[in-house]
Amino acid sequence: MNQSLAASQADTLLTALLRHHQVDAASSLSHCAALLSEAESFRHAAKAAHMTPELAPYSHLGMQLATLHQGNLLSAELYPELKQAESDTLNWLKQCFGLRYAHFSHGGSDNNLQALWQARDHTASGKKIVYASEARHYSVDKACRMLGLDLQLIATDAEDRITVSALEKACKKAPPLAIVLTAGTSATGSLDPLQDTSEIAEQYQAWLHIDAAWGGSLLMLPEHRDSLRRLSKVDSLGFDPHKSLFQPRPCSVYLSQLAPEYSSQTDYLAKAPSGRVTGSYGAELFLPLWLNLRILGENWFFQQTRARLGQARHFSELLQEQGLNTWNGGSGIICFEANGEGFDSLVTEGILSCAKVRQRRVYRAVFAGYRTQADELFRALPLSL
Ligand SMILES: Cc1ncc(COP(=O)(O)O)c(C=O)c1O
Repeated sequence: MNQSLAASQADTLLTALLRHHQVDAASSLSHCAALLSEAESFRHAAKAAHMTPELAPYSHLGMQLATLHQGNLLSAELYPELKQAESDTLNWLKQCFGLRYAHFSHGGSDNNLQALWQARDHTASGKKIVYASEARHYSVDKACRMLGLDLQLIATDAEDRITVSALEKACKKAPPLAIVLTAGTSATGSLDPLQDTSEIAEQYQAWLHIDAAWGGSLLMLPEHRDSLRRLSKVDSLGFDPHKSLFQPRPCSVYLSQLAPEYSSQTDYLAKAPSGRVTGSYGAELFLPLWLNLRILGENWFFQQTRARLGQARHFSELLQEQGLNTWNGGSGIICFEANGEGFDSLVTEGILSCAKVRQRRVYRAVFAGYRTQADELFRALPLSL
């Protein structure tokens, strides 16, 4: 009930269905079988190339519920039960991150656009400069281009984090509209120094957005929450449960202190909801997360996240014992330098990925799934021990 179909069961079901509908069985079946075996090949403790986690135990069932429901929450009055499930899940996330407003969205790219759009329209000063580090996600660049904003990049330190002194200097020279910080950079999973930079944002009255698409699952842990609450200023934050909280895409959340301009009513054609990037949406964005929360409770998520981070730490220690130059940003991604064709083959197999840290090419292991095992991944490396 709480698991996805095993590939063999899915194969049997598809065979029966295709025969029943008299579809060209031979070619359709071989295509379906190829899809299933492609999916199966990634359900493995040593696959750590990307931010594509194995799903939480009740996510499949939650997705099924969502497709059965199919309501559009732009007409929220029609679906009080679904609205309640949405509010319950958003309230939990607001409490975890200490922000007053939240809505679900389709991903981290949308959240970065949403934040900068809100910042631009909220600020009367006409300022156009946005500062972000050289390690920001490229969606920040896209958002600035769309909004006519001027993105200026701040150098990173050896750990892939924004250099606070360089940010301060830039703000002094040209005060920005917004500062975008990254909590969990795409390459090394590093967190920009939030405390120092939020003080700078406060001093220069800049909108402070935290792109926590990947690192949000770390920030929401009870042992880390206070560090967010102690910040002088956070105007908005984006987090992707579909990257690091074991959810199917799309499942993402945008949180802020102020609500973006928004109105929602059944007759949304007459009065369009205008302040959100996200258009039509419904249960698919949150019901899998909601169902897991109802059945397993928040502690299940926290424990799995801690275990995932522990596996990443262990992997980094194993690499360091081999004398490899290693980066551990602290949010579950480990990068390292290594030579040899064997490593490149692991990239083509989807076991590792490649990234760049300050112009250096590194291999990258992403501990996104709660079953990804450091020891097993380490054994797959072509190291002569
Ligand atoms: C730090 C960061 N921000 C934003 C994004 C974009 O997220 P999405 O793919 O959900 O749009 C990513 C994607 O990897 C990311 O790593």
